[in-house]
Formats: sequence, C-alpha cells, structure tokens
Amino acid sequence: MQNVIERVLVTREEIEKRCDELGKEISEAYKQDKEAPLLVALLKGSVPFLSELIKHIDLDIQFDFMNVSSYQGTQSVGDVKILKDLDISIKDRRILLVEDIVDTGRTLKKVTQLLMNKGAADVKVVALLDKPERRVVDIEADYIGFTIPDEFVVGFGLDYNEHYRCFPYVGVLKKEVYK
Ligand code: XMP
Ligand code: MG
Repeated sequence: MQNVIERVLVTREEIEKRCDELGKEISEAYKQDKEAPLLVALLKGSVPFLSELIKHIDLDIQFDFMNVSSYQGTQSVGDVKILKDLDISIKDRRILLVEDIVDTGRTLKKVTQLLMNKGAADVKVVALLDKPERRVVDIEADYIGFTIPDEFVVGFGLDYNEHYRCFPYVGVLKKEVYK
C-alpha cells in the first residue's frame, strides 16, 4: 500500500468482482433493445471503471467521453461547463452515464439534463462509488459499485490534484496529504 493511503476501502479483487456483477445486470437490462446502449464516461475519473466494466457487458455497446467541470455560478447550485463534448450523436439513444463517484449529485443531475435536452431516449447512471451522506441534489445512480462513508478517497480513477488515479484500489487519502 502506498504511504499516502490511510486505509484501503475497496480492493482490486472486489472491484473486478463487482464489475462482473454489474456487467451481468446491465446486459440483462438492455438485452431486448434493438440497439445496445451508448456508455458516456465522464473524464477522467471514470476511465479505469469503464475499462473494467465493459469487459463484463455482453452486448455490442459503444462508448464515448465527455469532460465537464463543475463551477459555482452566481446561484448557490453549481453549474457545469462542457470542456469536451460527445463525438457520437445521442438522438434517440439509450445512454448509460459512467461516473467514478456520486458525491453532492450536482454533476450527474446537470449532465443527465443536458443529455436529455440533446434528445437521448433515456439516461441511466452507473457509478463505481456512492457517498450518500454528501448528497444535496435529489438523484440516485441506477447501478452502484460500492457505497462509501464521507471520506476523501483516491485510486481507481479518483485523484487528488491529478495524483493517485492509477492506484489499482480505492483508498482513503491520509489527511496530512491535503491539510
Ligand atoms: P458531485 O457533483 O457529485 O461531484 O459533487 C462528483 C465529483 O466530485 C469528485 N469527488 C471526489 N474525487 N475523491 C476524489 O478524488 C473523492 O472522495 C471525491 N468526492 C467527489 C469527483 O471528481 C466526482 O466526479
Ligand atoms: Mg469526476
């Protein structure tokens, strides 16, 4: 274990096993559709999760990426700025949004609205991690890997100032690293 990690919350074996379960659930849920869903992954945190998850989905899925940044506007509710938009048209497509973590829920809510406005047939969400204690917006992921306590975590895509994303597990960052 790297010395910036307080403790490991989810091991790589647990992530692989959970992705296998989620992949099966998702395959089952969409198997009757004429066209398989388009996975929209939010850069950069969801990349390791997307890579593991797609190994376990038994459908001819496609994936695309978006990069959004949350910023606080004049309102108290954060807004979202698109830094990289989709390449594939989502008109009438069923979308599965892939996120690393649902925290306040603001990002997911905004991006879901945005995709619906662009004409998506429906938008569901799969998130590796869920921190329900921090929620300020009424939104839940449809598929959740692991529910975790309100602690700052890194690894398996999650970063602190672009560091520690590539750790193969999810761990709690030592407070002394960011305090
Ligand atoms: P929302 O909009 O749900 O934002 O508040 C979710 C985004 O917040 C980031 N986030 C974290 N990143 N460790 C991280 O490395 C954490 O514990 C954490 N909690 C939230 C993350 O970018 C996510 O997409
Ligand atoms: Mg993110």
